Amino acid sequence: MAFPINRMRRMRSSATLRRMVQETTISVNDFIYPLFVIHGRDQQNPIKSMPGVYQFSVDHRLKQEIKEIEELGIPAVILFGIPEHKDSIGSSAFQDQGVVQQAIRLIKDCSPEIVVITDVCMCEYTDHGHCGVVDADGTINNDATLELLAREALSHAQAGCDMVAPSDMMDGRIAFIRQCLDENSFSNMPIMSYAAKYASGFYGPFRDAADSTPQFGDRRTHQMDPANIREALREVELDIEEGADLVMVKPALAYLDVIRAVKERFDCPVSAYNVSGEYSMVKAAAHNGWLDGDRVMIEILTSIKRAGADIILTYAAKDAARILNQFG
Ligand code: PBG
Repeated sequence: MAFPINRMRRMRSSATLRRMVQETTISVNDFIYPLFVIHGRDQQNPIKSMPGVYQFSVDHRLKQEIKEIEELGIPAVILFGIPEHKDSIGSSAFQDQGVVQQAIRLIKDCSPEIVVITDVCMCEYTDHGHCGVVDADGTINNDATLELLAREALSHAQAGCDMVAPSDMMDGRIAFIRQCLDENSFSNMPIMSYAAKYASGFYGPFRDAADSTPQFGDRRTHQMDPANIREALREVELDIEEGADLVMVKPALAYLDVIRAVKERFDCPVSAYNVSGEYSMVKAAAHNGWLDGDRVMIEILTSIKRAGADIILTYAAKDAARILNQFG
């Protein structure tokens, strides 16, 4: 008998055979593209630590970007707002003329098919950079923060968004926001919960982009310890019980095991946030000529999908869409 009988290389011998046995495919339909929106006119500010990503003013600049996203076939965006004024309770987060509220209206006006998701958190709007109300002793007051988050989510709904995505990690916020939306005739508004969100160093470039670095302390009293996975499953379970329609694991790349565990345990769609630091590392290495940025980006997105994510939030969505449309 010839040795070996099993030759795994047989099915890898041509590109067509490889294509036929490929187990995981990523598609432009999987992506949500994050957008940073600012006040002002005719602005498109590059974010230094995130090459290819910009802050857009809510006018023809944002319109042009949305057209490009639509032409590439990316189905959804998630909005992050940088307000003009910050205060201790982040009141710009729930103003009718807030930057995100204006952006929602503009996008729904020019590209009604694009799904507009909004990030619901206070950290971009508070002068101290924390995700909620800070008590005199420096702790973040969970229950007082819920009121603000619900006002913010409602205000986004009233402006016409298609989905809200609370990213604050306060306890009980999904149920609280759900109730507020339902009482205000938004019972059909889906909630994507940042359910298992870790206290991660990978958010560094985002905090530059969104100007949301905490002025003191950190987020470890509400975001999760990177060492834990069973706790992530409890977080997800609670959010589903409270009414989350989609659950997210964040970051993605260093948490592929968490994505897998959530996917196996729950029957709810799972999203994963390929966060700013994950994007910037690849861009920086590619810029230095240390690796092939496009290839590595596709490999990372494929691994996130393979781990079990149904949906991927990624700054690489436009690049990946171009590559996929080319080789599709
Ligand atoms: C909070 C929020 C953050 C990110 C998304 N929503 C920052 C944080 O929790 O500190 C990070 C996203 C990224 O790094 O790409 N509003």
